[in-house]
Amino acid sequence: MGRRAAYDEIADWYEYEFLAGQADGDPLGIREALAALLGTGRGACLEIGCGTGVYAAQIRQLGWTPVGVDVSSGMLRHARGRLPVARADASRLPVGDSALGAVIAVMAHTDMPDYPAVLREAARVLHAGGVFVHIGVHPCFCGGFADRTEPDAVLIRPGYLDGHWTTATWTDEGVRDKVGATHWPLPELLHGFLTAGLSLERFAEGGRPTPTVFAVRARK
Ligand SMILES: C[S@@+](CC[C@H](N)C(=O)[O-])C[C@H]1O[C@@H](n2cnc3c(N)ncnc32)[C@H](O)[C@@H]1O
Repeated sequence: MGRRAAYDEIADWYEYEFLAGQADGDPLGIREALAALLGTGRGACLEIGCGTGVYAAQIRQLGWTPVGVDVSSGMLRHARGRLPVARADASRLPVGDSALGAVIAVMAHTDMPDYPAVLREAARVLHAGGVFVHIGVHPCFCGGFADRTEPDAVLIRPGYLDGHWTTATWTDEGVRDKVGATHWPLPELLHGFLTAGLSLERFAEGGRPTPTVFAVRARK
């Protein structure tokens, strides 16, 4: 895998500016969703698209042993001190069938244009009864079609109904204008879980007053 990954260019910005801007509390409800949907457990918890590994400590606090994969060596440079990592594509995980009890993807599905294939791969490496937790940008209220300039009056323009990739955004302080993002309308996103053979168990939303994050717990 010699090719440079999109996040290599912005890894330092992501670690020192983007994540630092969310360090006060849990403004998007990501940590709350992780605690509620992953819950406590034992054994390895694989984060696909782990980035800089910012959630490793919380995963450990929940009793799991965090491990991560990501395609970006720039992001993994920051992650290495936080959890064991491998550079790998989430659609071809270097993990055997039915090997794991937990897999998570946090704020990563919009970076994976073939997310249904990633979901199938997550299901492959989970053992029966294993848990998959997805936490991602809310498909209904976030995307190139959503203008969040006024947090109290989010404006939804046409575009939600069509899956697409875009760099369009209301802000130049986010990720989408820098590396782009894929949009999946809610039914298509959820169908991806079902097609992968995962059973949907619980849902959560995070961010006020209009959610920024949508999260799912599914089980093999
Ligand atoms: C927005 S970052 C999220 C990182 C981390 N989960 C977090 O919440 O801070 C998305 C990450 O997904 C990674 N990624 C994108 N496509 C991937 C793929 N096919 N396989 C593994 N990682 C991928 C990117 O390199 C990037 O680090």
